[in-house]
Amino acid sequence: GRKNKMIGRQFKRSLQVGSCLNQMLVLQRQQRAFASFQKAVLKPLPYPINGLEPVISQQLMEFHYGKHHQTYVNNLNGLLEQAAGALESGDHQKYVDLSQGIKFNGGGHLNHEFFWDNLAPTSNGGGQLPKEGSPLAKAVAASFGSFEKLIAHFSANTAAVQGSGWGWLALNKTSGELEFHTTANQDRLSDKGAHLVPLMTIDIWEHAYYIDYQNVRPNFMKEIWKIVNWSKVEERFAAAH
Ligand SMILES: [Fe+2]
Repeated sequence: GRKNKMIGRQFKRSLQVGSCLNQMLVLQRQQRAFASFQKAVLKPLPYPINGLEPVISQQLMEFHYGKHHQTYVNNLNGLLEQAAGALESGDHQKYVDLSQGIKFNGGGHLNHEFFWDNLAPTSNGGGQLPKEGSPLAKAVAASFGSFEKLIAHFSANTAAVQGSGWGWLALNKTSGELEFHTTANQDRLSDKGAHLVPLMTIDIWEHAYYIDYQNVRPNFMKEIWKIVNWSKVEERFAAAH
């Protein structure tokens, strides 16, 4: 009887050790899954939330940055987490099925991040064109004739985007020319080819202007140039070479 009790106790202890080991393995696996996935982050704006007024109101920014952009980040992170799990478990079919949502929400996140960075308050350089003779000014003159012509072309063709999308100023690395492009929905400029380096973008989704400009897209496209951060565009142009 006593011997049986002892064996019983040892058996119980080995079960406890076993479940403890099991828990450690589960924990290790969780840590591994966690380590293999880094979340996307909504960066702080490079200016105060009301810094783009009066061209873009604080209220519009609270929706556009605080709600729309935040939602892309949240959705992207949810999908990335599922994708990390699918990779971990070898469910490649699920991983592939998730990729469309990752493309859309990831594009939404990255396009907005790029957009905020090429805007600036009028009190902090917004709308100030590059100096004549600067590398960007020369390139604009060569490809478009002048900043005036670039802005007219960009405005008209971005306002004409059907549905939701983006207008882009790009360096075509193959030709060396500056070019205007549009992308639909949350497509990235790189979807049109790796030879296109984005220098500047304007969001022409309805959520980008409706609160301040209602249905009049051309008015938004007319005002937006007052807050374009051309020194950021110059920086990107210099880095593109
Ligand atoms: Fe947007």
